[in-house]
Amino acid sequence: MSRIPTREEAWTLLNEYNREPFHLFHAQVVEGVMRWFSEASGEDPDFWGVVGLLHDLDFELFPEEHCVKEQEILRAHDIDERIVHAVASHGYLCSEADAVPEHPMEKTLYAVDELTGLIGAVARMRPSGNVSDLELKSVMKKYKTLNFAAGCSREVIQRGAEMMGISLEELIQKTILAMRTVPGC
Ligand SMILES: [Fe+2]
Repeated sequence: MSRIPTREEAWTLLNEYNREPFHLFHAQVVEGVMRWFSEASGEDPDFWGVVGLLHDLDFELFPEEHCVKEQEILRAHDIDERIVHAVASHGYLCSEADAVPEHPMEKTLYAVDELTGLIGAVARMRPSGNVSDLELKSVMKKYKTLNFAAGCSREVIQRGAEMMGISLEELIQKTILAMRTVPGC
């Protein structure tokens, strides 16, 4: 029977397929942000957190099959189909996986994945080097500077906000608050 892994099991699985500190850190950032959003909407933080931790499971070893290979890996580990669908759907329109974000958890993952990268890049330029004193307006300015953190797709972030039914500003403000709960951000 398929199941939801514990945080420890998910972390172990992530480390089987990832060695790059940057990838492991990104997974933990998205995990923490997903937990924050779940709590804000009365959902299960453990479930959302595990999805955040596992969402890029295949990216380091199988970048060409991103969002496809991880479905196979997760199924081989008997992991719940809701998690398989969620991780696949974060590549909506950006990968070979054809899953569409449907559940609020999936829409949140889609919206925050690239955005955490952008916010992290803005935070690192501050004297503090972190998000503790980062303000929305600083992020908005860099968001509009398209050659800043150009790898963070503004199109995906904007689409994510629309999927969640909130403004871009609200999404960014909430993601800053969420990242303040994550060690190292
Ligand atoms: Fe990601």
